[in-house]
Amino acid sequence: MNVLDYIETKRESNLNELKEFLRIPSVSTKSEHKADIEKAARWVAEKLRAAGLDKVEIEPTKLHPLVYGESLKAPGKPTVLIYGHYDVQPAEPLDLWTSPAFEPTVRDGNLFGRGTADDKGQVHIHIKALEALRAASGKLPINVKVMVEGEEEVGSVGLWDFVQANRERLRADALIVSDTSMLAKGVPSVTYGLRGLNYYEIELTGPAQDLHSGAFGGAVPNPITILAEMIAKLHDKNFRITVPHFYDDVAVLSRRERKALNALPWKEKEFRKTVGAPALFGEKGYTIVEQLWTRPTLDANGIWGGYTGEGAKTVIPSKAYAKISTRLVPDQNPEKIAKLVERHVRKLLPKAVTCKFEILSTGKAWVAPYSHPIFQKALHALEEGFGKKAVFIREGGSIPFVSQMHDTFKVPCVLLGFGLPDENAHAPDEHIALENYFGGIKSVALFYEELASL
Ligand code: BES
Ligand code: MN
Ligand code: MN
Repeated sequence: MNVLDYIETKRESNLNELKEFLRIPSVSTKSEHKADIEKAARWVAEKLRAAGLDKVEIEPTKLHPLVYGESLKAPGKPTVLIYGHYDVQPAEPLDLWTSPAFEPTVRDGNLFGRGTADDKGQVHIHIKALEALRAASGKLPINVKVMVEGEEEVGSVGLWDFVQANRERLRADALIVSDTSMLAKGVPSVTYGLRGLNYYEIELTGPAQDLHSGAFGGAVPNPITILAEMIAKLHDKNFRITVPHFYDDVAVLSRRERKALNALPWKEKEFRKTVGAPALFGEKGYTIVEQLWTRPTLDANGIWGGYTGEGAKTVIPSKAYAKISTRLVPDQNPEKIAKLVERHVRKLLPKAVTCKFEILSTGKAWVAPYSHPIFQKALHALEEGFGKKAVFIREGGSIPFVSQMHDTFKVPCVLLGFGLPDENAHAPDEHIALENYFGGIKSVALFYEELASL
């Protein structure tokens, strides 16, 4: 049977199977979900076996297990390493979900639930494409190695040790990742660039303990005020980051790339609607697409301290905290940027507070030319699978593993994203468009079929 026809007959059962996967609350950041994480790992292993992979193993790491499987029975054909993650972000705030986060539900052509787009739905696309290829012709057209990790959302803490210890086993002609988005509905996309991410935590201490704001206020430092003032100074009026030398190494876009990115069928109106703020706010001198994909940023992700309970409490807090992150772009060195940010933060603070500055994680940006013939195969497969013209895009999110793999193995990395920018990844009502889930399975199957002739 033709593979596309086979996939068509499996619509119901594939969707039901994905729902089963989504019902496992594999939240990697919370230790109370350890058993769910293990259950999800076993689930992935079982489905990889059912798809015809052999040597499927659940590999323990420092934190959460990784599932690895391979099928190397196509001598002379290319070998791809497929990567994804089965862990998800916490579902909170729960009351903002229209239907419960771990009870997947179809509404208006979308499947809702935590992990639908990021990344269980996309992992499932590959499992089902492999299964269909084998079922339709009795064997896989290429060699595949599949690696699905369980700690991506907490920074892949144990992943790199696994890669280092298994360098030979993981060797492949290309890395294939589905953990990104399409430019827009009806515009299948291959992503060739991601931003990097550094994450910091700041703790300021003023008074040695909380103080009565009447008895002490006016004569003592308030760490919250000082923290807020410091954060406000991290950008100038053009929304440029004030950290000295922050932009020194930022790669300048070629005229050609700039033109290509700005010519993509990207709709500002839709973007504004998704954001839902009274107005946009970004670095002056750049288009939104350039701001999102090619410019570094500094964000305050959280700020807390003092009294936040019901009613009033007159207190000068001893401590104030902030979580800050920087998205990085090509040629910025994460370690160097972390030092620059720390130095600047310390310089902005008065002597009246002490500062603990912690670097929680660092990660490099990734961008690569799409000249290797595999990229044309990917584009073509997407166009066949969706019946729409496909494009090359960059994105603003981060998958540190991609740049690590690219640096280590020097192989092309093909990012086929089947999410959409407005699908609420990491937020309430996360969903995936069913047409992209089903179109994804078809495209990926066609892609692997076409790779046999590479
Ligand atoms: N799938 C995302 C990465 C992503 C998001 C790529 C949007 C392209 C567009 C991934 O699961 C993720 O959330 N990454 C984190 C970083 C990670 C180190 C926790 C991110 O981008 O914040
Ligand atoms: Mn993801
Ligand atoms: Mn994510």
